[in-house]
Amino acid sequence: MPCGVTFVPSFPRFLRLAACLGAAVGLGLSLWAEAPFAFDTGDGHLPKTVVPSHYTVRLEPDLRARTFAGEVRIDITVREPVDAIVMNANALTIDSAWLVSGSERQSLASIWDPVTQQLRLPLTVTLAPGDYAVELTYRGTISSNPQGFFYDRYDTPEGPREMFGTQMEVADARRVLPCWDEPAFKATFDSTLVVPASFVGASNMPAVRETPLPDGRKAVTFDRTPRMSTYLLAYFGGEFEILATDHQGVRLRILTTAGKRELGRYALEASTRILDYYTAYFGVAYPLPQLDQIAVPQAFSNFGAMENWGCISYLEDYLLCDPATSAQGTKEEVFKTVAHEIAHQWFGNLVTMGWWDNLWLNEGFASWMETKCSAELNPDWQLWLRSNADKERALDLDARSSTHAIQLPGVTDQTVDDAFDVISYEKGRALIRMLEDYVGAEPFRAGLRLYMARHPYGNTTTADLWNAIADASGQPVAPVANSWTEQPGFPIITATLANNTLHLDQQRFILDAPEPDASQWNVPLTIAPLSQLEASTVHLLEADTPLELPWPAARGTPKLNVGDTGLYRVLYDETSLAAITAALPDLPETEQLNLLGDARALVTAGQLSSPDYLAIALALRDSPSQPVWTSLLTTLRSIDLWLRDEPLREDFHRWCVALLRPQLDRLGWAPASGESPLVDVLRTNLIYQLGWYGDPAVIAECQRRFATDSATLTGNLRATVLKIVGRYADRATYDALFDRYRTADDTEEKRACFEAIQHALDPDLARNTLQLTLGEQLGVAERNWNIMTVAARGEHLDLAWRFALEHADELLTPLASYGRNSYLGYIVRDAHDPAYAAELEAATRQHLGEEALPEARKTSSLIRLRAAVRARELPALRTWLARTEPARG
Ligand code: BES
Ligand code: ZN
Repeated sequence: MPCGVTFVPSFPRFLRLAACLGAAVGLGLSLWAEAPFAFDTGDGHLPKTVVPSHYTVRLEPDLRARTFAGEVRIDITVREPVDAIVMNANALTIDSAWLVSGSERQSLASIWDPVTQQLRLPLTVTLAPGDYAVELTYRGTISSNPQGFFYDRYDTPEGPREMFGTQMEVADARRVLPCWDEPAFKATFDSTLVVPASFVGASNMPAVRETPLPDGRKAVTFDRTPRMSTYLLAYFGGEFEILATDHQGVRLRILTTAGKRELGRYALEASTRILDYYTAYFGVAYPLPQLDQIAVPQAFSNFGAMENWGCISYLEDYLLCDPATSAQGTKEEVFKTVAHEIAHQWFGNLVTMGWWDNLWLNEGFASWMETKCSAELNPDWQLWLRSNADKERALDLDARSSTHAIQLPGVTDQTVDDAFDVISYEKGRALIRMLEDYVGAEPFRAGLRLYMARHPYGNTTTADLWNAIADASGQPVAPVANSWTEQPGFPIITATLANNTLHLDQQRFILDAPEPDASQWNVPLTIAPLSQLEASTVHLLEADTPLELPWPAARGTPKLNVGDTGLYRVLYDETSLAAITAALPDLPETEQLNLLGDARALVTAGQLSSPDYLAIALALRDSPSQPVWTSLLTTLRSIDLWLRDEPLREDFHRWCVALLRPQLDRLGWAPASGESPLVDVLRTNLIYQLGWYGDPAVIAECQRRFATDSATLTGNLRATVLKIVGRYADRATYDALFDRYRTADDTEEKRACFEAIQHALDPDLARNTLQLTLGEQLGVAERNWNIMTVAARGEHLDLAWRFALEHADELLTPLASYGRNSYLGYIVRDAHDPAYAAELEAATRQHLGEEALPEARKTSSLIRLRAAVRARELPALRTWLARTEPARG
């Protein structure tokens, strides 16, 4: 064949090769000019007529040139006669392609379609079923973004250095090697990675051999993987420092850049405990001989961590910490992130969703397991109680028409990026928790063990999970679960007590539709008398079937959603609501959080007024509970958003200061010895909010500590003090903070200083911070979040938005596909003027296209809703603030 080499992504060369290509494969130009190809299966999937079983890969990255060379041999089975072999590739230049059949080798042409990201190797004769191999040599590029091969640049005492890594999920393994890049095409992998001699090379399995090369590099060959999906492949290289231990036969390592090894110790110790927990929970040993966890300095621009099998990667902020100086929040973030990614090693990696429409099986489940494991291993963090905040965020989106169902019918690997959101993660977590509660923790675990035992190295759907749980527990969980996974939204339950009967009914809780639609759920309701919450019982409120429970007067007031494990709102009759509100200060935290969440949502729905909510806040003012205060403070902050640019805002701030100050005075600034870690979290939460709302004494104390104790500022207080100092900074203070940011080598210190400058209220300083987005001074992760943080924390929404619009293409073009569609929305998220909603949609259409609109609507619907609620609530809020002094109650 005259033209074994074939196609390129870049357009001019593509044209030059066209004639050659047409001749080679004996087909007209229309074949490649008119997408989709004849071999497109129509649903975006690869044909299943040819399946890969094993890959032998050799990769040679050239960091300096930002390119890499690759060779791959793929063992395939042809299941039906085919005229072409079709796989995925993206942004690769194929230099040669061969078909191997026994001892014969035949050169093949290759045709690439950039739209379907498919690579077609046409055959001159029809290939009969049987075993073959294809071999390809190719080249690709190394990007600054985590899509396929990426590089990262970081500073060390010896000067700047670079490392490289890969990021494959969702559909970028095809940027590293031509492959069957769908989660169901599992295969084994033998890999060799060529790196400079000073580098450590890492991949999914341990290295079995390192061969020095004549040019001073070395070839690192890794052991064969088990059958796995391509999105979990990983190749990393850098001058890493390593912290290692053997735990239950697994080689556990933390890999960091120079000087940071010890900061990995906390994660290493957490990992051993987490591995033990999961091994016991799933009843299946960790499936690989190694678990590497790699700290990437900056290149994870838009997310925190990736569960590559046996080779997890983290933005270093999520893996490294110093227990002596880190904030409680940092330790929690590290623990939870490690717990999340290790959960995926079983749930996702060993057993994998068949297609991305079941993404929630991965992310919802890992999120649930993350909280379950972290909560049990750190009981004083009260993580389930605090996960109320995450559930609330999911219910907020899920109460707007821009939400989506947990299951994603019709989703493709090109459109699933936007589903890595609060619905898949937080609603997913809360749903699994509700079902665990319904089935019972032990039967639920038995179901999961059965699921793991049935499908190791396989692929599943949501139905397989419910089947396993039903088989193990004897409870048909699917009818309940399906009503939650297959339709968007959730219900509000009306609970009305009359004639010794509790009447329960449901309808969809939707905030931006004129009428709720007819959606119905099978709702596991937990109900108890208010005065006897421990005696709660579970009742299934079935779709389209109101429930009537005998409720003798002696039982008193009913309380629903006991334990706050349900995914629904409750609207009580007036008498019951009054009784519950009166009892609120004495109820357990779970019930307080549950009622605060419902009350906040009912204000948005217009069924309670904001003064009603503030009265509840006053009733809870003596609560010592950090989670309860988090809920209250979050709602106060959302009221604060209505008041930006309103004279009334000052009154509201005074009210907030008067409410919060006694709490801080009670706790003092210094941690008491032996206090629970959450007390100091509450203390610093209060300091931050008081500083935000303008308490002069708190601001002065932050400034004093910055000026005098700056070097010793650590722990929870560090970021708090720096941010408040940053908020009110003048130029000289801003410069001092910036300098400290530039020179800090401690990750947490650096991040705190950067967030501090993003807090500056002074518009000139904010302009300066915005401008940094365009230069080379920031790392890619800092750059990614800079504009939204200046908008939200510096309260410069309009300035930030104009800046983003002015530079939209420059900002959006380099972004990885995950996060691109949500980028603009994050900037205007806090707006209360519907004009921003319209501008966001217009800018999205213009710069990203129609297909990005559903993601933009998640934010524009929020802005429009806030505008409506604000218009309704401002008059009542004004009257109420004029006559209420929280200091007197
Ligand atoms: N699988 C994801 C990472 C990911 C997200 C890859 C989006 C591709 C697109 C990983 O397991 C994850 O969920 N990471 C979270 C952190 C976790 C603690 C919630 C993240 O990066 O935000
Ligand atoms: Zn995840």
